[in-house]
Amino acid sequence: MISLRVDLICASGEIMFQSEPQKNNHSPLQNLEEWEDFLKQRYPESGVVAAKPFQAIDPEKKKEQFRNYEADARPTVREFYRQNHRHQTNEFGRNKRREFLSLNRRRMGIWEALEYLNTLVDDSDPDTDLTQLEHLLQTAEHIRADGHPRWFILAGLVHDLGKILCLWGEPQWAVVGDTFPTGCRYSDKIVFPQYFSDNPDSLNPQFQSASGIYQEGCGLSNIQLSWGHDEYIYHVTKDYLPEEALYMLRYHSFYPWHRENEYQHLTNARDRELLPWVQKFNPYDLYTKNHAKPDVKALRPFYNELIAQYFPDKLNW
Ligand SMILES: [Fe+2]
Ligand SMILES: [Fe+2]
Repeated sequence: MISLRVDLICASGEIMFQSEPQKNNHSPLQNLEEWEDFLKQRYPESGVVAAKPFQAIDPEKKKEQFRNYEADARPTVREFYRQNHRHQTNEFGRNKRREFLSLNRRRMGIWEALEYLNTLVDDSDPDTDLTQLEHLLQTAEHIRADGHPRWFILAGLVHDLGKILCLWGEPQWAVVGDTFPTGCRYSDKIVFPQYFSDNPDSLNPQFQSASGIYQEGCGLSNIQLSWGHDEYIYHVTKDYLPEEALYMLRYHSFYPWHRENEYQHLTNARDRELLPWVQKFNPYDLYTKNHAKPDVKALRPFYNELIAQYFPDKLNW
């Protein structure tokens, strides 16, 4: 059935209601990059890698147009967040951990996993036309060009490998999206916080105090974040990479923490010590995409050696 899009616009011009877009299923995004492009709108480039001028996704768009990020969001992105906030309950995250973290689906080397991820066919990203492998190589190459340690480059290469969850039939809202703690109050700095009213956890008073089911200062490793590609890749790699890299992998989508400074009361001293590494990584993830395709064949020997330095031939996925 084809649904018609209806937007109600209030006096201030804010969109109050949008009917669901026509592609209304568990893949509302045209491609996973649509979510990341939205993040780029929400967090325009500044600071660490700010030497380059601001580059909007659509070069015609001016920076000022990105200020009201929620109103600017495409209907597909809104629908994606609506599903994410509605379905990512504490129980859902627990069940997914049980389902996937025994890592008994496949045995693959890192490069094999990169090629496997590259079979993910969603509509290509019209803004960059990059494959998943090319995005990961671009991220890693920018980190390398800035002279960072080898494990940092490697973190760039593998950080999105958890998106292979999509190849196993997982809906977009259970693979990507800014992550947030479940089992305690939602920060209003999380994008589209209004959609949490559809989440059953919002009716559970135990889950809605500031610390919820957690002890203040218990540390992020004791907090159950919403489930997605970050947590998954952390578990696949946790025996092989330095802790700094593992923080980058596990928390790179935890924008409420690393960009909004929320949930400090749940962190411990170690989290606070390692936060700057997560923040150092973020610009490479968000702002290094461009049309210059990396030469995969030429780069392969360097990355083969780098992968072999840290990882065994095969890992459990
Ligand atoms: Fe990611
Ligand atoms: Fe990424």
